[in-house]
Amino acid sequence: MKPTMPAVMAVCASEEHPLDCLSLTEAPLPVPPEGWELVSVVAASLNHHDVWTLRGVGIDPDRLPIVLGCDAAGVTAEGREVIVHAVISSWSADETLAPDFSMLSERYDGTFAGWVAVPARNLLDKPPELSFEEAACLPTAYLTAYRALFRQARIRPGDRVLIQGAGGGVATAATVLARAGGFQVWVTSRSEEKRRRAVEAGAHAAFEAGARLPERVHAVVDTVGAATWGHSLRALVPGGTVVMVGATSGAGPPADLRRIYYRQLRVVGSTMGTREELASLVRMLLATGVRPVIDSVLPLAGARRGFERMVAGDLFGKVVLRPDGAQGS
Ligand SMILES: NC(=O)c1ccc[n+]([C@@H]2O[C@H](COP(=O)([O-])OP(=O)(O)OC[C@H]3O[C@@H](n4cnc5c(N)ncnc54)[C@H](OP(=O)(O)O)[C@@H]3O)[C@@H](O)[C@H]2O)c1
Repeated sequence: MKPTMPAVMAVCASEEHPLDCLSLTEAPLPVPPEGWELVSVVAASLNHHDVWTLRGVGIDPDRLPIVLGCDAAGVTAEGREVIVHAVISSWSADETLAPDFSMLSERYDGTFAGWVAVPARNLLDKPPELSFEEAACLPTAYLTAYRALFRQARIRPGDRVLIQGAGGGVATAATVLARAGGFQVWVTSRSEEKRRRAVEAGAHAAFEAGARLPERVHAVVDTVGAATWGHSLRALVPGGTVVMVGATSGAGPPADLRRIYYRQLRVVGSTMGTREELASLVRMLLATGVRPVIDSVLPLAGARRGFERMVAGDLFGKVVLRPDGAQGS
């Protein structure tokens, strides 16, 4: 009999009832192809990407069932403590632009399992200063926020940046990284409690979603999409940049083209980041002392609870899953 491991899988896809397609089951232990390594997953973190997969967005139906999870930190067979870069591609320059770009759990099984197989070049040393839980938050949400702020937004320390949807994993990452990077950080959230927590986490000010701001901002990091797009454009100074990172609330708002050309706004899409950017992000955390904002730590067997709260928009920061069953908040 083939050896198995516990795994959280998407067994089907449903736009209406994504959680009906979530299954905690036994999956075969992965067999790494040449040049790949097995990592024993100590901690993995949940991303909205996992909900999109359950909804059938960004996944080829032929790939199902598939083990969910983009992010992990763990230990290799040789005992090396590692962070897993979640972008799988044949390119080594800017992997995010590669024609064969995919993220773990799109073409290859993901990290919500006892073990994951990844190309050896996707492994970075986990510094001892970061816990496995903290390290597991970095490969998607924190890397995406890092590239959006420090590469795509074209802003300088002292500039003002607005982060929409303050409670989300990417949004909390952008908040703490932007603060550490020397920007003036404003956030919006639909929830008073999340606005309060965002200020505690490092935002200089927090506003209701869609609120008129005291001044315009130099850049916006928008993960929310349709619900905030108009506000993001209105919030920008002439020549400002909106970095579009996600579309949780919908992907087809009116474009407001006149505002874009008249105010000479830059609209820049951004996806994930390179291995080099992940290494820089790790060094930034070590240099600044900044650590990921963790909403809760759940055992793998309790993953459904984390998914339910993410679908309900009820999180502040990252949900971390531990295959060994440890939990906390
Ligand atoms: N481009 C990339 O490489 C990349 C990487 C990671 C994530 N993403 C995308 O970015 C988005 C966020 O991902 P995540 O993992 O951070 O998700 P998340 O943790 O589930 O965050 C979602 C946040 O969006 C806000 N939101 C949701 N629906 C909203 C609505 N109808 N109106 C206003 N705000 C709403 C909420 O903020 P408040 O409750 O505070 O208002 C919520 O906390 C997803 O669409 C994901 O696919 C893209």
